[in-house]
Amino acid sequence: MLFTGLECMSFSWIFFALLLVLASTAHAADVSVKGGGKERQPLNGREVYVRSCAMCHSTGTAGAPRPGRDEDWAERAKKGPAELMVSVLRGKGGMPPKGGNASLTRGEAYLALDYMLNGEK
Ligand code: HEC
Repeated sequence: MLFTGLECMSFSWIFFALLLVLASTAHAADVSVKGGGKERQPLNGREVYVRSCAMCHSTGTAGAPRPGRDEDWAERAKKGPAELMVSVLRGKGGMPPKGGNASLTRGEAYLALDYMLNGEK
């Protein structure tokens, strides 16, 4: 009787341990979905701008053109958005590629450029 009782207990412990393992792997998977590059929700242009571009572009750090200041964009706008996009992806002068945020998708970088040129729609 005592023997079967113990056996029963150890079985439930194994079961409990298994549950813990399952729960922790499920949690880890959950975290990687949220943190992982392609699985996260895409950001909109304003969000990308605020997180990855504004630190230079809002103040014009190192000569970064400021959104809404025509004098900053006059020469650059002549290139057209495709050419400007190349600068964003490759970097230019004091600007690292994608503004230094390698986790941005091309789409997100484009939305940020669009936000910079045209503002909130
Ligand atoms: C570390 C500071 C910094 C960050 C962050 C940054 N930029 Fe820039 N950006 C600059 C500087 C400096 C220039 C001017 C480069 C030059 O013409 O030599 C520039 C120029 C540009 C230009 C004009 C390029 C051209 O060909 O004339 C665009 C468009 C641009 N940035 C978009 C962005 C976008 C979009 C982001 C965010 C994803 C971003 N930048 C993040 C510093 C930055």
